[in-house]
Amino acid sequence: MKTALIFGAGGQDGSYLAPFLLNRGYRVVGVHRRSSNDNTGRLTEIKNGYQFSLLEGDLTDSNSVSNIISSVGPDEIYNLAAQSHVHTSFHQPELTFQVNTIGVLHILESIRKHSPRSKFYQASTSELFGVAYDLDAQGRRIQDERTVFAPCSPYGCAKLAAHELVNVYRTSYQLSCCAGILFNHESPRRGENFVTRKITKYVAALYHHLDATNGMTKRAAKNGFPMLKLGNTKSARDWSHAKDMVRAMWMMLQAETLRDYVVSSNESHTVEDFLDRAFRIIGQDWRNWVETDKDLLRPMEVPHLHGSSRRICQELGWTPDYTFDGLVEEMVTHDIEEFQRGVDSSESPLRAPMLKTHLPAA
Ligand code: NAP
Ligand code: GDD
Repeated sequence: MKTALIFGAGGQDGSYLAPFLLNRGYRVVGVHRRSSNDNTGRLTEIKNGYQFSLLEGDLTDSNSVSNIISSVGPDEIYNLAAQSHVHTSFHQPELTFQVNTIGVLHILESIRKHSPRSKFYQASTSELFGVAYDLDAQGRRIQDERTVFAPCSPYGCAKLAAHELVNVYRTSYQLSCCAGILFNHESPRRGENFVTRKITKYVAALYHHLDATNGMTKRAAKNGFPMLKLGNTKSARDWSHAKDMVRAMWMMLQAETLRDYVVSSNESHTVEDFLDRAFRIIGQDWRNWVETDKDLLRPMEVPHLHGSSRRICQELGWTPDYTFDGLVEEMVTHDIEEFQRGVDSSESPLRAPMLKTHLPAA
């Protein structure tokens, strides 16, 4: 039986990767950091399983990282832990580097010293490309393994340094490590301050509001509901489902020779496309409900991401199962049901799930 160690097990990706590996017969050890509130809610379904265990640890603490790696002695290590919010990285650049760069160094050093036979997957990102792109045969702006890196945020810079460290440790010490350059991926478990989930939670709350105010005039219904505040809606992203992405992570570590791959849906949509698709599910026009909040604009923006994952498709046989429309529909449907469960168990219909989407700096 193989043992896998997942840093960031309680995050979106960790919560999909852990059951994926358990289903393939792995023993899985998840690492989560201490917090005053439970941060393992996404792991509820597997938390009490026989082959799954959780350890407390923080990437910024080298002792905790090396104690965990040396005591578990894993066959495979997945680092999914990060300060993963790009806008936040402008406000907390130092923390972002501590976690996203120094934290990765802690893992690499621990592997080198205590567990050199462990295979290691590092979560790199399309944010490495920033403003850079190439033109494909159809003249479209795309990014792949040959595109240069030109990050546009402290987050992107910190991830780039970690990405290069993985390559240096692979070459210098012959460690079995690689990095997946993953484009955006979402799911009903996506953090609520990323744009997709912020939109789908708002749509769910609006759906219930319109349902509850049925019979009132359109204007009255609108006046009773806050607008959705967003930043830049013109930017384009290549959105996949997180379930497709964790399968790619695992496939990368099963390859005979480990190398870095771009993983993406090969489609690019603007935030406005996402808005359009999500609001249409409840029969609404997003333009009536969205307004720009300057505080949500970033000091520098990645304008256009469109991956080409041809190499991983050809070499490892990875292909995505989900479509863009399917992803949006799953997220909206999930959030409508979740909102209903909240209403059923609460006195006030306008409780936390909807109000949270209006927190500043999200
Ligand atoms: P996520 O939901 O934000 O999960 C990140 C996890 O890291 C959370 O469980 C978080 O714990 C944990 N963490 C944060 N700081 C830590 C620390 N100092 N020590 C230990 N754990 C820490 O992110 P995700 O969407 O699952 O993404 C997984 C990884 O892929 C991240 O590295 C992200 O940067 C990268 N990535 C994501 C995407 C995407 O579109 N999702 C695309 C490319 C790359 P708390 O729950 O306590 O905060
Ligand atoms: N978060 C957020 N909140 N983004 C907004 C908002 C808002 O209110 N309004 C507009 N946006 C725009 C952002 O400016 C960006 O252009 C786009 O929506 C996507 O933002 P996020 O969902 O925050 O994702 P991201 O692309 O910045 O970063 C995600 O993908 C990266 C891979 O490309 C994160 O998951 C990163 O961790 C990941 O590396």
